Amino acid sequence: MDNKITSIEDLLLVILVILMIGISLVLIFVILQTNNATRRLIAQKTGQEYEEFDFGKWWKKINGTTVSVTDEKSIMLHHDYDGIKELDNHLPPWWVNMFYLTIVFAIVYMLVYHVWDKAPLPAEEYELAMEKARKEVEAFQQQQGNSIDEKSVQLTPGDAGALANGKTIFESNCAACHGASGEGTVGPNLTDEYWLHGGSINDVFKTIKYGVPEKGMISWQSTIKPKDMQDVANYILSLQGSKPANGKAPEGEKHVAETVAAADSAAVQ
Ligand code: HEC
Repeated sequence: MDNKITSIEDLLLVILVILMIGISLVLIFVILQTNNATRRLIAQKTGQEYEEFDFGKWWKKINGTTVSVTDEKSIMLHHDYDGIKELDNHLPPWWVNMFYLTIVFAIVYMLVYHVWDKAPLPAEEYELAMEKARKEVEAFQQQQGNSIDEKSVQLTPGDAGALANGKTIFESNCAACHGASGEGTVGPNLTDEYWLHGGSINDVFKTIKYGVPEKGMISWQSTIKPKDMQDVANYILSLQGSKPANGKAPEGEKHVAETVAAADSAAVQ
């Protein structure tokens, strides 16, 4: 998407440059014409001679004077290869000057890109673009992550990265009360189908977010990022039916919910 916009911008730039060159040429033409007209007027008033700007002459000057066929002898080189002879025609000045310009450009280019390192070479440009894109993706994900709430929270089956993240968070924050395998100690067993506060992903997220402070379950919203709460909620649901040893007796109501596919959780356990 970004690429397209850049290329449209580039195209607009090229069109703008062409337009500006065109306008400049028209302006030069107008200025020269007015100049001619004024000089003609002054000459008429004062009776002096004046020389009008001659486009033909000017054109000849930049295009070079080609020797007419009748004068070709004057520029004929001396060698003769089986009747093939060579003329010493000069290159047109605009061409030669363009060649000099390329030399100047090459020097400037070399200094800017290779000596002073003032502009990025293609590989570097690619790296910069990738870096910029990475930051954009990060910012987008950050924003996505922060906007997750109990309504928009989602099951992310198959997202092994998210489950692994959830597992890490669980082990460092939750295992103390819910057991390393979610079998339940101070807190209830999280691996059975019985829930005190609902077993849907939205319910679980809500319990984690707001907690049940009066019963000893902390509210985590100020310590764990929304995306991480979603991951840990998914991890908890992935434990459904894992039947760990020493599982605490079921509490609450039965809720057979959409669970995170066991195969995915097996991969990270
Ligand atoms: C200080 C101990 C403690 C910690 C730490 C803790 N919990 Fe809890 N948790 C509890 C208790 C106690 C309950 C039961 C609350 C009740 O009886 O209403 C509970 C309930 C829950 C429930 C609801 C279970 C149900 O049956 O509805 C979920 C989900 C849960 N905790 C997830 C977590 C997660 C995720 C973490 C870590 C981020 C965590 N808990 C950390 C003590 C804790």
